[in-house]
Amino acid sequence: MPSNPVTEKSRNLIVVSNRLPLSIKPRGDGSYESSISSGGLVTSLSGLTKTTPFRWFGWPGLNPAKSEEKNEIRRSLGEHNAIPVFLDEKLAHEHYNGFSNAILWPILHYQSGVTFSEESWQAYCKVNEIFADTIAEAAGENDLIWVHDYHLMLLPRMLRERLMRMGKAASIGFSLHTPFPAAQALRALPTEKEILEGMLASTLIGFHTEDYRQNFVSSCQQALGAQAQDSTVLFKDRLVKTACFTVGIDPQKFDETISKPEVGKRIDELTEHYKGKKVVLGVDRLDYIKGLVHKLHGFEEFLQQYPEWIGKIVLIQVAVPSREDVKEYQELETEISCCVGKINGKYSTAEYTPIVYLHHSVPFPELCALYSVADVCLLTSTRDGMNLVAFEYVACQDDRAGVLVLSEFAGASAFMAPSTVQFHPANMKEMSEALLRALNMPAEERKERQKQLRAFIDANTSAKWGSTFVEELSKRAR
Ligand code: UDP
Ligand code: G6P
Repeated sequence: MPSNPVTEKSRNLIVVSNRLPLSIKPRGDGSYESSISSGGLVTSLSGLTKTTPFRWFGWPGLNPAKSEEKNEIRRSLGEHNAIPVFLDEKLAHEHYNGFSNAILWPILHYQSGVTFSEESWQAYCKVNEIFADTIAEAAGENDLIWVHDYHLMLLPRMLRERLMRMGKAASIGFSLHTPFPAAQALRALPTEKEILEGMLASTLIGFHTEDYRQNFVSSCQQALGAQAQDSTVLFKDRLVKTACFTVGIDPQKFDETISKPEVGKRIDELTEHYKGKKVVLGVDRLDYIKGLVHKLHGFEEFLQQYPEWIGKIVLIQVAVPSREDVKEYQELETEISCCVGKINGKYSTAEYTPIVYLHHSVPFPELCALYSVADVCLLTSTRDGMNLVAFEYVACQDDRAGVLVLSEFAGASAFMAPSTVQFHPANMKEMSEALLRALNMPAEERKERQKQLRAFIDANTSAKWGSTFVEELSKRAR
């Protein structure tokens, strides 16, 4: 494990998130299969492992009855420095599918019509308590504890109470990987105050963009009567620092993968296969915040508006299955399949299919090859914490200098807007024009934009994001 001056000198780092780097599923024959977890949180934290040693606590996704099976899961996670927090299955279901993904996630992403459930809220509290008990027990005297994301917003407070009782001086940081919505939007949540107080027990709170940070501070002022000066919030005699930490990827991992001979061969195959056509790529979890239905309508609008492109453009859409036990995600899957079928039915010929729809996760080398051959990456999020796919596309594009067509509502737009083609995801005409602009962009302009974007992703890696946060937390630890 590489060394890190900050943590090695004084303090060990504990990272806590609901999702672990490996997802474990039963095979049905008594054994288990594990796969790399999808999503930006795992991408950013996995990027950090290269430079910063830490123990990573989280929910393994299942709760086998037999202790040998639990030990087997502990062992395979242990290879990734990950430690499972086992949860009763019904409780985990209410916490993950119920409160986190059917109530909190939509509110954080400005969705209306969310129905509050007391039962799900109680499960959310209980799971946060179980995490607090586990982490408080595992934490050393002066450890740094870095809690991640919306599944664990009560944890800083619960943890602080326990650590104080135990006489441990561990320091707690919190990072949110989603947007933090405007104060009025958060009011849709009846337990808003508990959530804010939960987070405010941290020493340092990190957000992806300055807008999200300001929204959080406004909510603390309006809902809790907290005082704020610059980026510091004063609540119940404690000062809490808030800041924007730019999350990123590990660009080197993409460079190394792209330069492998087998990936080069795959890039050549794909280039040959799509010869004479422009490739537009989308890579998203199958989530309503990614604006996938908008994307399909926008692409259809493009084919209608510019029929000369029919037969000359292909949309490859990777839609990684996600949260399939939540009703809204199930309905979305049906809607997307119908929409893809309708457009393909309308525009396909015996030789041509406009949309290639991959409803499964894609192995990393194949993903890199797809990023590399795409002339355009089209990302249509209606809201999105950051969107690391935007970074990954840039990482794989050096020579081709493809164009990133990015929704103005992706957090990444706060940093990348000038070098991307921006559009409003609900405006089909604007999306279709943005696509045309990207397809017709002169090579010189594309290269200049790629240069700017590449400099940005190289300057803001996941390793830098992590070490900056940990350093800042360490400075504030007493
Ligand atoms: N990704 C994945 N499996 C796939 C396709 C993509 O794990 O089959 C990764 C992708 O490489 C990226 C992450 O999922 O690192 C998505 O992160 P992003 O921030 O764009 O969105 P999120 O899913 O976190 O909302
Ligand atoms: C987003 C969230 C993460 C989550 C990821 C994948 O990036 O901010 O916390 O891990 O989506 O979602 P999942 O529900 O599979 O963990």
